[in-house]
Amino acid sequence: MKVALFGASGGTGKLLTERCLAAGYQVSALLRTPAMFALRERVRVVQGSAFDPDSVRETIEGADVVLSALGAKSLRKEDVLERAVPLIVAAMQATATMAKPVRRIIVLGSAGALASSLDKQPVWRRWIVQNIVYNTFLKWPVASQVSQWKDLSQSDLDWTMVMPPMLTNAAGRGSYRVDGEALPRNGSRISREDVADFMMRQINNPEWVRKGVYLSW
Ligand SMILES: NC(=O)c1ccc[n+]([C@@H]2O[C@H](COP(=O)([O-])OP(=O)(O)OC[C@H]3O[C@@H](n4cnc5c(N)ncnc54)[C@H](OP(=O)(O)O)[C@@H]3O)[C@@H](O)[C@H]2O)c1
Repeated sequence: MKVALFGASGGTGKLLTERCLAAGYQVSALLRTPAMFALRERVRVVQGSAFDPDSVRETIEGADVVLSALGAKSLRKEDVLERAVPLIVAAMQATATMAKPVRRIIVLGSAGALASSLDKQPVWRRWIVQNIVYNTFLKWPVASQVSQWKDLSQSDLDWTMVMPPMLTNAAGRGSYRVDGEALPRNGSRISREDVADFMMRQINNPEWVRKGVYLSW
């Protein structure tokens, strides 16, 4: 299995890299600063930015699956997903006529991407999350995830958007709630380890292709 990995140096991306290597997969990782990435000797490094079409193309070349755990490092407006996801989608779509098209992509999104994500929450919690969290301090991360959702759902790729609530660095529990309609009731957090575990499982799972899927403890 050849995996193209975006965001390998991030919190969830590092865990995905470790899991891919443990599974015996070949990993192409797009890295802005490879020297800072401890696993650089064990992956095919493409040095560059996800805002550069050539670097994105080089990363996905020959891949069986694309994984992305890209994101901004702050809560400010950084437009990482707004700029990178269209380039990834375009690079994948450009392989359509090649002998081996790159069609499968699994991305780390967020429960904030869709308004219906809160449909299973108690009314008080829905109000707080929508009005105090999503509309204020998570405004820009949420806008980025809305953009990522649009880019993927309007593409003809075999995409899966994994949509967790708050991520933590706690140890994975190995069990979590999965829901295709909305965030599970009172779901407020999940560890990056469990998210990475679920994303890896989607590589060979057709269940959530062309869908978003919510994940929570
Ligand atoms: N934090 C939460 O509670 C939470 C909850 C739900 C969803 N999410 C979503 O989860 C995603 C990832 O979160 P995380 O905390 O695991 O990630 P993270 O630690 O913030 O890492 C982000 C990754 O994106 C990379 N990146 C950013 N801009 C890039 C560019 N122009 N070119 C190449 N790489 C670039 C970073 O590379 P560098 O090392 O070069 O900076 C890093 O590898 C985000 O989209 C976030 O919105 C987060």
